[in-house]
Amino acid sequence: MEFDKNLPLKELIKSLMDKNLPLVSNLSNFSSAIKNYFANVSWAGFYLVDHEKNFLYLGPYQGDLACTIIPFGKGVCGTSFKEKKSIKVADVNLFQEHIACSSTTKSELVVPIIKNKQVVGVIDLDSDLLDNFNESDQVLLEEISDLISVLF
Ligand code: SME
Repeated sequence: MEFDKNLPLKELIKSLMDKNLPLVSNLSNFSSAIKNYFANVSWAGFYLVDHEKNFLYLGPYQGDLACTIIPFGKGVCGTSFKEKKSIKVADVNLFQEHIACSSTTKSELVVPIIKNKQVVGVIDLDSDLLDNFNESDQVLLEEISDLISVLF
């Protein structure tokens, strides 16, 4: 199957989205599309909510090995989960709660995926450059998050 990788990200995600496939298949392709779209991203992927145990577990991603479990309220991802909001960190060394999966990560953007007012997962982008993400990256990732929430 051929995908048009030159589509704008939202259009590409829509073209990849297949409600008849398992969530893991959709998220796997999305993580690749998202990593390729944003400049200087070392890691892009998903953490998913375990509603019984109230933590995040590692989902599909592109990049180096990563932490498998992130407690509610811990790290940038766990804070986004707790506060139900996006968090853009220009310098991870200044974010007290940051969990360093990779020592080279310098900035990060995390956006929650919200379904029926509940966080069901987060999208996490890491960069080895300081302050790699801007407001429009955040808005775009929030729009992507809205789009894909229908799959949960
Ligand atoms: N840095 C994240 C942990 C996940 S990794 O970056 C892939 C955090 O503080 O939540």
